Amino acid sequence: MRCTSFVGEFLQADCDCLVVGVDSAWASSKEIAEIDAASDGLLRRLLETDEISTKPLKISQIVAPSGLGIKLLVTVGLGGSDSPDPVVFSRAAAAALKTVASKKRGVVRVVGFKGTPIMLRGAVSGAMVGCVGQDLFRKEKSLNPPECIQWVGVDDATVQSGMILGEAINLTRRLVNMPPNLLYPETLADEATQLGTRCAIEVEVWDRKKLEIENCGALLGVARGSVRDPRLVILRYNGSTLDVAPSVLVGKGVTFDSGGYSIKPTDGMLTMKCDMAGAATVLGIMQAASQFQVKHNLVAILGLVENLISGDAFKLGDVLTARSGKTIEIHNTDAEGRLILADCLNVALDQKPARIVDFATLTGACAVGLGLEISGLMTNNDSWQNEIRQTADACGEYTWPLPMHSFFTEQIAGKVADIKNVGEGRYGGAMTAAKFLEEFVGNIPWTHIDIAGPAFLDSAKPWCDGGGTGTLVRTFVELFSKTV
Ligand code: BES
Ligand code: MN
Ligand code: ZN
Repeated sequence: MRCTSFVGEFLQADCDCLVVGVDSAWASSKEIAEIDAASDGLLRRLLETDEISTKPLKISQIVAPSGLGIKLLVTVGLGGSDSPDPVVFSRAAAAALKTVASKKRGVVRVVGFKGTPIMLRGAVSGAMVGCVGQDLFRKEKSLNPPECIQWVGVDDATVQSGMILGEAINLTRRLVNMPPNLLYPETLADEATQLGTRCAIEVEVWDRKKLEIENCGALLGVARGSVRDPRLVILRYNGSTLDVAPSVLVGKGVTFDSGGYSIKPTDGMLTMKCDMAGAATVLGIMQAASQFQVKHNLVAILGLVENLISGDAFKLGDVLTARSGKTIEIHNTDAEGRLILADCLNVALDQKPARIVDFATLTGACAVGLGLEISGLMTNNDSWQNEIRQTADACGEYTWPLPMHSFFTEQIAGKVADIKNVGEGRYGGAMTAAKFLEEFVGNIPWTHIDIAGPAFLDSAKPWCDGGGTGTLVRTFVELFSKTV
């Protein structure tokens, strides 16, 4: 799918479909006046009688009158014009293109999206997300991306940047949507290697033997239940001079989480191919960051494991020794993400990082607390967390900070080992998990992002098909794109 900037008379050149963004200032819109001039006041009539709405994400499909050179007109509401909302902007573009993608189409032209460059990149990438579905293995696709999306009044640089973002988000989504019989640690590591080749990024893959040599006992403990060997992948992108300390991005890559002997019920296990969304998010960010040639040094570390059951799987009461040397008592084999991340964060420290961020579908508790649309932020450094929050807000991706009081740490004291892998009872589960991770980051500024809620949609939304969402890819690419 191509995205281009459209210059010239947008009603003169033929297209299959014209998408028109309408906000409360439609009466003074030059583009709407032009369409009306060519169609005997069509849009004004429909807007005045509320047949078309400017309400956020409200969509109308209109068979275009002859003479316009357009088969279909789709309008999408953008809300009020005075304080444009970045969430609405990108989701409206996504919802419109999702509607358009119900059928195969050639050129789709979009008018009426007016905003700051960051919002327009959100719209261009959102449109690309909206028209790509999760049905990777269905013969008849429910969504058909058009051949080309043309953006009227959006400059070429903004469209190209939006397209890079859209491709990165869709990479993350595709990886999350891959079934776990095809996407497992080895094949996900292959995806990372291919990304490295594509983007000229250095990739290092640690196999089981190397993980043993490196004493990654926590990660290896989780991996024991599966016949699929684990992997740890390190990607390095150098956009700055080499003596500048890198930002390290860590991703939880549990390609399937059965819960292990603390087994999940069927309903909870059904979507657990999504448990590698953290690793997929990091790969999306790395792809776009390298394509943008951001001026940062970035290191990505992915912990790739399958959490299954076998005669040799890890058990409740086992004690694992993490790479840092800390001993961990296993009280619940379903709290496996923090074990994998413990070793990944220790490898992160070896990179002498300026800051660390980890992405993980870590706890159901975070989704219970914040709902399915908001990622939880937990940190040992408020200014690093605030930087993330501000960019996320500007991108229209929802995040919210959760507390990190020291008493949560008391809950993870071990009886026979240094620490245990769950808190006392189920209350505060997102925070006790974060406090466990904090044990492995030393004094480096670190933010943990629990994406258990927003990373995966059980069912389709108007702006995105069900499955992986690629949440926060855009935020972090925008963050690292800022000049330092
Ligand atoms: N992968 C799950 C968390 C999860 C739940 C992600 C729902 C996405 C949707 C994680 O490994 C897990 O099972 N966490 C446990 C922790 C508990 C045993 C302390 C949980 O949330 O129940
Ligand atoms: Mn689990
Ligand atoms: Zn998990």
